[in-house]
Amino acid sequence: MHSPNLQPRVYVIEDWQNGGFGIYIHWPFCLSKCPYCDFNSHVRGNVDHTEWKHALLSELRHAAQLTPDRSVQSIFFGGGTPSLMAADTVGSIIDEVAKLWRIGNDVEITLEANPTSVEADKFLDFNKAGVNRISMGIQALNDIDLKRLGRLHTTKEALQAFDIAKNNFSRVSFDLIYARQDQTIENWQHELTQALDLTVDHLSLYQLTIEENTRFGALYKRGNLGGLPNDNLAADLYLATDEICANAGLDCYEISNYARKGSESKHNLVYWRYGDYIGIGPGAHGRITLDGVKHATITPMSPETWLKQVQTNGFAFKTSETISKSDQGEEYLMMSLRLAEGTDLERFQTLTGHTLDADKIKMLTDEGLVSCENNRLVASPSGRMVLNAVLKELLI
Ligand SMILES: C[S@@+](CC[C@H](N)C(=O)[O-])C[C@H]1O[C@@H](n2cnc3c(N)ncnc32)[C@H](O)[C@@H]1O
Ligand code: SF4
Repeated sequence: MHSPNLQPRVYVIEDWQNGGFGIYIHWPFCLSKCPYCDFNSHVRGNVDHTEWKHALLSELRHAAQLTPDRSVQSIFFGGGTPSLMAADTVGSIIDEVAKLWRIGNDVEITLEANPTSVEADKFLDFNKAGVNRISMGIQALNDIDLKRLGRLHTTKEALQAFDIAKNNFSRVSFDLIYARQDQTIENWQHELTQALDLTVDHLSLYQLTIEENTRFGALYKRGNLGGLPNDNLAADLYLATDEICANAGLDCYEISNYARKGSESKHNLVYWRYGDYIGIGPGAHGRITLDGVKHATITPMSPETWLKQVQTNGFAFKTSETISKSDQGEEYLMMSLRLAEGTDLERFQTLTGHTLDADKIKMLTDEGLVSCENNRLVASPSGRMVLNAVLKELLI
């Protein structure tokens, strides 16, 4: 485990301030549906960009009424495929956020982009609109696997889009999916080294997950998705990923995220440090503390239902669900144990009024799955690989 980039201890009035405050904007449309993806993304022939811009702005204004006097540390345009948004919509949203809340000079504004040439041509406009970080879904650096993953770009196109992104933004990250069909350790080592040679300072590296309600899920169920790694190979791929990235100076600061010191995604840290965040757009969920009580916010998944509700009522998300102190403790533990900096046990105790079972921590420590120092519980690389089992042990 690399030395964690520890979150400085700050004395706060409400628990969410330990994690900060961010805004997530969901653009739910894609040009096609990738066979592995179960995100809330939809293919639509016609999207009325003006209607969507007004609806997103209206939902933002509603959120701001509930959370006045806050500083925004990050805005994240995710999807779906937000690089399909009109740059004017992105710019209007950023301007509106700046009117509704305080934003610092160091605010991180990320947009997820698919690396086709059409989208790369819009990078300059996104930059002018205020975006200062791009996260690209490259997924693989060979054309056979890109095709198998149902992607619309080639490796050449992805590399060109990456160059354009680097010319327009000081911060560029990209995603790769590994543990793919027929992928050997050697193939992955080669591909990951190629990725790191691109002088990148942040990578999201996800193991391919077969989700039930996807095309891959259906193929897998019928036994028609061959060549997936067994558990041993998947574990070896994960450990190799850690090692190769560490040798290149990118620490694993979260289970699937690797960065040079100081280049971690501020937005995702808000989630993992269990801060407050507003979710704007279909299916986007949020966590906001109102009058000292943490709420989960939910909103309709269907783009059409969401749009109609905003047009009719001025907003779509609901804050009716409060989260009990013990559920907050559970959520904080689930999120923070993903991080190399781990869980602040004092914060856990303040939040829930109780401590974690010392015998269980000792047992997990003896098994090499966690370590505990200075009142921080940290999952080891092998602990991260079986995090759900570790959490189950700690929480029951
Ligand atoms: C939902 S996508 C949005 C970004 C953009 N539309 C794209 O595809 O690049 C965010 C990331 O999730 C990852 N992802 C989605 N489904 C996955 C799965 N089943 N297994 C592993 N990674 C997945 C991909 O790496 C993708 O870049
Ligand atoms: S992976 Fe990205 S492009 Fe593919 S369907 Fe999901 S959100 Fe859309």
